[in-house]
Amino acid sequence: MPETPHVSLRARAEVDLDVLYEIAADLDTWEERNPQAPHPLTRDGFLAGVARATDGATSGDSVSFVVDLDGVAVGGASLFAIDTFARHAEAGISLVPGARGRGIGTAAITELVEFGFVRYNLRRIHLQAIASNTRAIRAYEKAGFVIEGRQRQHAWVRGAYEDIVLMGILRSEPALRQTQ
Ligand SMILES: CC(C)(COP(=O)(O)OP(=O)(O)OC[C@H]1O[C@@H](n2cnc3c(N)ncnc32)[C@H](O)[C@@H]1OP(=O)(O)O)[C@@H](O)C(=O)NCCC(=O)NCCS
Repeated sequence: MPETPHVSLRARAEVDLDVLYEIAADLDTWEERNPQAPHPLTRDGFLAGVARATDGATSGDSVSFVVDLDGVAVGGASLFAIDTFARHAEAGISLVPGARGRGIGTAAITELVEFGFVRYNLRRIHLQAIASNTRAIRAYEKAGFVIEGRQRQHAWVRGAYEDIVLMGILRSEPALRQTQ
């Protein structure tokens, strides 16, 4: 039996910047992570973006975490576009290549949802994924998200148009608790 990794979400530290830059600058998964057109991201450009956040962890309508595996940063996860009126937010997550496919993403998303519902009093969390990103969609389903819709040929991804899959989870749904 493979060991269950110990995954937690925590604040970013200076020592995490190399890993976070590696993820942010990765052109291979750019379209999976960004709606904007791909471009080479310098470390200075990355750091300028980090500095623009008010305190590095929260920026009004977002909350950003480092995904920690046994004390080492392996990714980032955030809630953004937080709407305190309708009480919903969008979720995003990315891991370094070596951490993918080991259950870490599912564990981190589950923690992020838990944080959103229990600590931020959200009632709905939504996200979007490129249709070919089956690993992400599967991880989100395992964390309790369901497919709510599809934007046909919405994204230009490495030479072809792709559908965007829209997913969401409601706090009232029992799926979240089944995964814990
Ligand atoms: C998306 C991401 C966060 C998922 O985290 P992860 O740790 O890799 O995912 P998990 O290991 O928890 O779960 C992946 C699931 O997909 C399955 N899977 C893996 N590769 C797959 C593939 N090519 N096709 C279909 N399913 C696949 C796994 O078997 C697993 O399901 P199972 O437990 O039922 O077997 C991570 O892969 C990542 O950071 N990818 C690059 C950036 C990205 O795409 N971010 C998301 C943008 S929407």
